[in-house]
Amino acid sequence: ALPAVGFTSVCAQAAGASGDSLVFDPSAYTEQTITLTDAGGTAHEVVYRFHKVASYVAKPVDVTYQSLNISVPVRIDGTAVDASDAPILFANSVGGYMPSSVANRTGIAATGMGGATSRQGLALAAGYVVVEPGARGRTLVDSSGVYYGTAPAAIVDLKAAVRYLKFNKGRVPGDVHRIVSCGTSAGGALSSLLGASGDSPLYAPYLEEIGAADASDAIFATGAWCPITDLEHADMAYEWCWGSNPPASGSLVDRTVSGELSSAYGPYLASLKLRARGFGALTARNMDDYLLRTFMQPSATKYLAALSDSARAAYLAAHPFISWDGSTATFTWADFLTHVGARKKNAPSFDAFDLSTPECNLYGTGTTAARHFTLYSLRHESGAGARLDEDIPSKLRLMNPMYHLVDKVNAGRSRHWWIRLGTKDTDTSHTVAGNLAARLTDLGDDVDTSYYWDAGHGADQDPGDFVKWIAAVSG
Ligand code: DHB
Repeated sequence: ALPAVGFTSVCAQAAGASGDSLVFDPSAYTEQTITLTDAGGTAHEVVYRFHKVASYVAKPVDVTYQSLNISVPVRIDGTAVDASDAPILFANSVGGYMPSSVANRTGIAATGMGGATSRQGLALAAGYVVVEPGARGRTLVDSSGVYYGTAPAAIVDLKAAVRYLKFNKGRVPGDVHRIVSCGTSAGGALSSLLGASGDSPLYAPYLEEIGAADASDAIFATGAWCPITDLEHADMAYEWCWGSNPPASGSLVDRTVSGELSSAYGPYLASLKLRARGFGALTARNMDDYLLRTFMQPSATKYLAALSDSARAAYLAAHPFISWDGSTATFTWADFLTHVGARKKNAPSFDAFDLSTPECNLYGTGTTAARHFTLYSLRHESGAGARLDEDIPSKLRLMNPMYHLVDKVNAGRSRHWWIRLGTKDTDTSHTVAGNLAARLTDLGDDVDTSYYWDAGHGADQDPGDFVKWIAAVSG
């Protein structure tokens, strides 16, 4: 049995018996010094405590993945800082729904994409506690050929890591009521799912199985960059959005498949009953207008407004589809699509007929590496009477934030959301983030959504603003 919540640190020092393994030991750390350049380009010398937690669950399946690191700033530029009540950035490093391990790291992952300071590094330099959890992922297979990291393993692990922190409230540095999750792409999907599904009872059996701490897994705020989510509707959404875009060179999109999927998107979108101010009910008919006016045009406007007069004039001359009235960019959805150019993925983009996509592997089980998770692709391959495997619908619910926001509105969800996406990112449909933002806004949550103009997959162009946002929402 797990020790009760509220276990004191005196007991923590006596830990060692099996049931006490989830008690955090504040005295176990290495002290490290790192130079971190903030988003404004200023370098800071940060002294921090680096804690390694061998496992955040009592019955780990694989500690290579089910472990976490905690970084706690103690001196920044020579001044002592007390992070005991600071917000906690909970930064997953999942990509491609692959396994992600932090077990061999000897310090905070301070460098992000392109050599810039990572979100973790920026957060540490801002005085926040940084937690970096590992998680199982889709390709893990044991010696008997059984897949043990497919859905819902990654979200179960991230929840277990949150529970570990909350279980250790008072022992673990930082304010466990101010956990802010972040992640990119599949990691953005998992971050949004973690935010949407806080304390949902659906995960209980899975959490119990791995010996997760008996504590809340709800988080305070959620950052999600280019979330690759709502997977079972992503093929339809993709064709609705990018169906008219040319395929990447060398590939051919089946027009019948694309057309069938695109037509199926309308009924799905209608079933969500989304609303947006100034647009009313969102449907396949006005969705383009919603995306255009709410995200794409403001994105271009922000981009152009930040350019020098000569650079702006040059950009506008090279992109005559954009009208610029001196302060606002306008253009049509069709011209925007043409501007984006080639689509990245074939059709179907996610539940490929030949099971070759990462998502088919995500829904693998037992010794089966990959399965269909949409009726459309399954029936295309196996005939009109084919049925999805019995466990698929429940696994889809466990992996989809929209379930927790639409089908069963989850009171335990986070109420602060930061959603970011590049306008040229064709890894998934622009409706995915758009629907997420629309639904959360309609629910009354605090939602900060922005698209980076002309940016591709994985972009993060305002990391400093995210760090400021954490302070603003958790103040
Ligand atoms: C990621 C990208 C994809 O296109 C996808 O289908 C799944 C995951 C990623 O970058 O994590």
